[in-house]
Amino acid sequence: MSEIKFIDRNGTFQIENADLYNNLYFPIASEYGLKSCVTPTLSGDSKTDQNHFLFEPMSIENLNNNRLTRNLWCIIDGQKIWSASGNSANQNAKRFLDSKETCKVTAGFMWHRITRENNEFDIQSEITSFVPYDLNTEVHIIRLCNSGESSKEISFIPAFPIYGRSADNIRDHRHVTSLLLRAFVSKRGVIDRPTLSFDERGHQLADSMYYVEGYDENGENPFEFYPVLDDFIGRGTPDWPEIVNNAVVIGNEIIDDGNKAIAPGTESVDGQEIIGAFKFKPFTLQKGESKTFVIYAGISKNDDEYARHTAQINTLEKVKESFEKTRNYWLSKVNIRILTGDSDFDNYMRWVAFQPELRRIYGCSFLPHHDYGKGGRGWRDLWQDCLALLLMDPSGVRQMLLGNYCGVRIDGTNATIIGSKTGEFKADRNSITRVWMDHGVWPFITTRLYIDQTGDVELLNEQCRYFSDKQIRRGKGISESFNSADNWLRNNNDQMYEGTVLEHILIQNLTAFWEVGEHNICKLRDADWNDALDMAGDRGESVAFANAYAGNLLGIADLLDSGKLKDSGISICEDLQILLRDDEESYNNIELKEKVLNDYLSNVSESFRGNKVIVDASELACSLRNKGLWIIKNIREKEWIADGENSGWYNSYYDNNGRALDLTIEGKKNMMLTGQVFSIMCGTADETQIHKICKSADRLLYDENSGGYRLNTDFGEVKTDMGRMFGFAYGEKENGAVFSHMAVMFANALYKRGYAKEGYKALNSLYNSSKDFHISQIYPGIPEYFGRGGKGLYSYLTGAASWYLMTVTMNMFGVSGQYGDLTVAPALLKSQFDDKCKCSIEMEYAFRSFKIDICNPKALEYGSYSIKGCRLDGREIDINNECGCATNISIPKACIDQLDSCVRHLIEIELG
Ligand code: G1P
Repeated sequence: MSEIKFIDRNGTFQIENADLYNNLYFPIASEYGLKSCVTPTLSGDSKTDQNHFLFEPMSIENLNNNRLTRNLWCIIDGQKIWSASGNSANQNAKRFLDSKETCKVTAGFMWHRITRENNEFDIQSEITSFVPYDLNTEVHIIRLCNSGESSKEISFIPAFPIYGRSADNIRDHRHVTSLLLRAFVSKRGVIDRPTLSFDERGHQLADSMYYVEGYDENGENPFEFYPVLDDFIGRGTPDWPEIVNNAVVIGNEIIDDGNKAIAPGTESVDGQEIIGAFKFKPFTLQKGESKTFVIYAGISKNDDEYARHTAQINTLEKVKESFEKTRNYWLSKVNIRILTGDSDFDNYMRWVAFQPELRRIYGCSFLPHHDYGKGGRGWRDLWQDCLALLLMDPSGVRQMLLGNYCGVRIDGTNATIIGSKTGEFKADRNSITRVWMDHGVWPFITTRLYIDQTGDVELLNEQCRYFSDKQIRRGKGISESFNSADNWLRNNNDQMYEGTVLEHILIQNLTAFWEVGEHNICKLRDADWNDALDMAGDRGESVAFANAYAGNLLGIADLLDSGKLKDSGISICEDLQILLRDDEESYNNIELKEKVLNDYLSNVSESFRGNKVIVDASELACSLRNKGLWIIKNIREKEWIADGENSGWYNSYYDNNGRALDLTIEGKKNMMLTGQVFSIMCGTADETQIHKICKSADRLLYDENSGGYRLNTDFGEVKTDMGRMFGFAYGEKENGAVFSHMAVMFANALYKRGYAKEGYKALNSLYNSSKDFHISQIYPGIPEYFGRGGKGLYSYLTGAASWYLMTVTMNMFGVSGQYGDLTVAPALLKSQFDDKCKCSIEMEYAFRSFKIDICNPKALEYGSYSIKGCRLDGREIDINNECGCATNISIPKACIDQLDSCVRHLIEIELG
């Protein structure tokens, strides 16, 4: 049984016999644009975007079934055929039957090594794969070693099929697009320079070239080249190609391969499927000897770029240097490190912290499980990935936030797809008009964290543009007058309209407040966080996110009342005053609410004046607070579902027939986690209710073998009045799987309300299930969800990672900012401390580096310890402990600002 073994403190891990697990894939990518993935048999694809795939696109199902993939052929002593990457017909047939071949994967951030050993042929291969962080080329360092007693002659034939076109052509005009390809043989391999890129709306001259090349440790080039896929495979198969088969000496005769080899510099072969296949001169390895090769494959815009990139990897020495630089580059991206009593957990957290980087690069489109859309990131993903960035590298975050706010429309909705550059937006991935009602929630949550970490309240006063297109009235209207060449809002004098960040936040949260359905709960519209609740657009309502908006309205009010803003006069769009209406009558009256929203939308939809007025900060705060409190009161009064004396939970949604989703009638108990998360996080659930919710969740949702808390109970029906999730099998994805993102937010909510033991249970179950490799079958990190049999799916690219990191750092260790002051309020359980009763966290805060040691010498449990002492770089810090039971310390921003930014500072906290 294979398991994950960590071999250092940087998360580097090893797994024996990883090639027996079919859905494993590992990301290797650069900052320059190339995004690849590799499997334990070197399968996987590589691309820069939807229209530029170097290898054939791979989704999870063809990842291992498609044999047409990177391969490394060896012909041993002219007799035996062996794939150094384990992908020959022989090896495939015997993989799980044969104990003669072993395969071990070792990997760290963005590098992957396969060590394969065959005891029948006495040969070993070690394949180290990475993408230099600054190039568009993937590099494989291949070492072949003779592990037998006698010498061996080896012929080495790397063969990487080049696809070289858009993913759209995988079925649409697959053959026709091969006619556009042009294969050239260079000194070191094969280059494809397609003529056109196929697009029936208007064909374009191709803008890229694709290549596979290689050399040996002495800089020797290959000597025979087979660029035509048809010729290379011939009458064989991708895992037993004819050219490889024919290289075997039968008797004393070498089979004639019909002169299919093509010499470097000859004319191109036109219009054929291409493979970067070439043969090196045969060489002899004595017992224990090895030989190393470098094979690289990439995409370039033109010859200059190709020359520049390949020049940086044209010797083994340069490749080794690039490998070290690349490793260090990615390691430096993760500057949070924890030390607890469980070193596996500490290593696991390194991967969790790295995951947001991976989603920044791969979006949700470019790893085998993630085949959504054609690139770009979604709105809520963007804001949540920012949370992790804020903790690890806040330097560019201010600019990023300002850029992102420009995606908000004046009606409170937003562009949903974000391009690779800050400030690049698209209305929708599939050009469908959709409004996700949760989108307005996330920006304030992220902005609040930014302000807390940095103390930069003035961000709220920065001016940003608004996104504008034909879509008006919160997706319910089409503008007749929109004719702008760009996507920026202008007033009726055609002047660019800008508003403060605060104005953007107010518009998002206030429009959501007034947009309610028949139960006076925020309308669900086309879905909320749960994308798969997408069939209740008319009457659906989200109680879950009504809570979240309440939390925001209260949070904004707190900010305005904090006295931290320089000015008490706040400049806002005059039309926004309509939404500031503050009276119980309108709050309770659904028709009135609709009218208020419509009045606002009419004013801002066509012929927008864009005038400003000044409002008083405390009056504004009061109006917001009343709205937030009203939502909470309304939910408390109407949405609680009692289930006997000791259990109960909140309703989370209304469906398109106006029926509550969560219920307990006639023996049927439906419970959804989302409503519980936000009612706890935002303060709707009181203490007794939290106890009851936890009890109910343990009974109805918790499944230890599948990662912990499921997203919902089994409704047992295909609810076409709610969403596609009810068409999914129960226990998969959004229909009742343990969906990491919501499970982590559950933990976060519980920690926030002081329920550390319960929060830890949610986090720890996810960790335990992930690390149980034999069951989860994923590399370290948190998957999007756990499905059938506890298997982890959709590795790496999940918003859960940001929240996990944030919860561990800010809630479990309790290190957070408050308007720039650094506070530490540990909520670690006794079992988490190491054998010296200590836990530590190393992290950056306010551009300074800290190590925070938390000592619990009496081994006390959370809840029975308080802070007895605190030292910063050896100096005592006043902990304001008059009551003798301080649970947090605070170091003022002014004090932090004076600390040297070049050295690491030590904060020692003693519990007792
Ligand atoms: C994914 C999406 C996210 C969505 C969630 C639930 O979650 O990326 O936007 O809210 O599904 O439908 P993730 O993969 O981030 O865990």
